[in-house]
Amino acid sequence: MRFPQDLLNAIRKAKNVIVLTGAGVSAESGIPTFRDAQTGLWAQYDPVELATPEAFAKNPKLVWEWYTWRRELASRANPNPGHIALAKMENLWSQFLLITQNTDGLHQKAGSQKVLELHGNIQRTKCFREGRRVKSWNEDQIPPRCQQCGSYLRPDVVWFNESLPNDLLQQAFDSSSVADLFFSIGTSSIVQPAASLPLVALQNGAMGVEINPTQTPLTQTMTYSFQGPAGVVLPNLLEQAIHK
Ligand code: OAD
Repeated sequence: MRFPQDLLNAIRKAKNVIVLTGAGVSAESGIPTFRDAQTGLWAQYDPVELATPEAFAKNPKLVWEWYTWRRELASRANPNPGHIALAKMENLWSQFLLITQNTDGLHQKAGSQKVLELHGNIQRTKCFREGRRVKSWNEDQIPPRCQQCGSYLRPDVVWFNESLPNDLLQQAFDSSSVADLFFSIGTSSIVQPAASLPLVALQNGAMGVEINPTQTPLTQTMTYSFQGPAGVVLPNLLEQAIHK
């Protein structure tokens, strides 16, 4: 596929680049997305319904075990060519930030350092009641208990009906508003506030590029939208822009 010359020029000239990623970036590493059809063990549950404080309060064992499964999946998974291309991108421009909704840590595993994890990290654990980060616990109980206050432990991720950390959110909006190039990759673009970041960038004059095999509510709004897997489209695009 040959990409538009205008986009290749914009990539070469950009000074300030933001990328927003979602679960689709990890799909080629074998990690199921949230809203694509679910297969296997968890087919009977709606993952989105497991990702709330209410679900945890109602059935802590189920939610803990679902996250244990996802944590192990993430630990075993390897970065794919999309993650690797993104890690290389941070050295291409003077200003760069990778904002991710993913909690699987695969961007860092691929070598990315300038990563803002908007929804937390699945490998971290915290106290359900007091939010304190916890590193060790007694494995005999499921979910395990906080050794300080006795409350259940939970994954240190942002669930639905919870607020995102204010400082990270502010940084994400501030960076997006001064970007000259904004990529939205592998996200369904329906979960707020992340879904507003590309709109803020576009309103402030950025060129917007979406990469996703299917259309999203953002597709018509972005300057360019490429339908295909991130691990194929992104390396191709960079190859044409940077190496040719
Ligand atoms: P979704 O599951 O909503 O969307 C994944 C997107 O990835 C879809 O639009 C797919 O078409 C696309 N996709 C699938 N395979 C792809 C590939 N190989 N390359 C590129 N794109 C691909 O996931 P998110 O948008 O990340 O939040 O969901 C946002 C948030 O909703 C998540 O962070 C999570 C979830 O509930 C919380 O847990 C708070």
